[in-house]
Amino acid sequence: MSIKAVVFDAYGTLFDIQSVAAVTEEAFPGYGELITQVWRIKQLEYTWLRSLMRRYEDFSVITRDSLAYTLRILGLPYDGAAFERIMDKYLHLDLYPDAMAALAAMQGRKLAILSNGSTGMLNALVANSSLDRVLDATISVDSQKIFKPAPEAYGLIETRLGVPPAEVLFISSNPWDACGAKAFGLNVAWIERVTHEAMALACVKNDLVTPLTMFKAIRTQMDELGLEPDYRIHALAQLPRLIAAHP
Ligand code: LAC
Repeated sequence: MSIKAVVFDAYGTLFDIQSVAAVTEEAFPGYGELITQVWRIKQLEYTWLRSLMRRYEDFSVITRDSLAYTLRILGLPYDGAAFERIMDKYLHLDLYPDAMAALAAMQGRKLAILSNGSTGMLNALVANSSLDRVLDATISVDSQKIFKPAPEAYGLIETRLGVPPAEVLFISSNPWDACGAKAFGLNVAWIERVTHEAMALACVKNDLVTPLTMFKAIRTQMDELGLEPDYRIHALAQLPRLIAAHP
């Protein structure tokens, strides 16, 4: 297998969506972790619901609506300024510490993002993190008006990069996204950031399951969809050696 392009999911793969917890905790002391987890779970749910209903709204609307849902159901009153401060963090998410070096080590292959993020959100996030120094393209699903894991979303890779699925390695830490990419026919490396041993320990150790543990149980373990990634890795740093074996 020859790899001509390495394409990355953005939220949760290159950028740490848990890094919003600093801002949510500052805005709502004692609720930061719960807001962060409910918000992300609901955000993804809305992408799937809107895709199935054929009622597309871009990811900035989805992210706004899922945050409003979260604050409402938790009974947390808020003003516009606090809401916008939290939303702004989505344009400044922490880049995973090994991301820049890993992508810099893979120059020579086409490097791109394929994300449910809106074009505006992704361009801001990539510029704010300086990832534009190492990326050849940032691809939003906006033009297809449907979210991953719909096949139309993954089809944008060949449309934009001119590389057929068989020569693409798609990277995601989101199990549902890794399965969707595999179903489409891409080669897939899934970043398993929470091993099943760590998952089991987190549940056994605490008689009270924290919101973060609940999130890990729901969104970080490989799903039962009859689709397996080609590679299971634990960090972006492992990628340069993996693709070196596929010139
Ligand atoms: C992305 C998120 C939804 O597509 O994982 O970047």
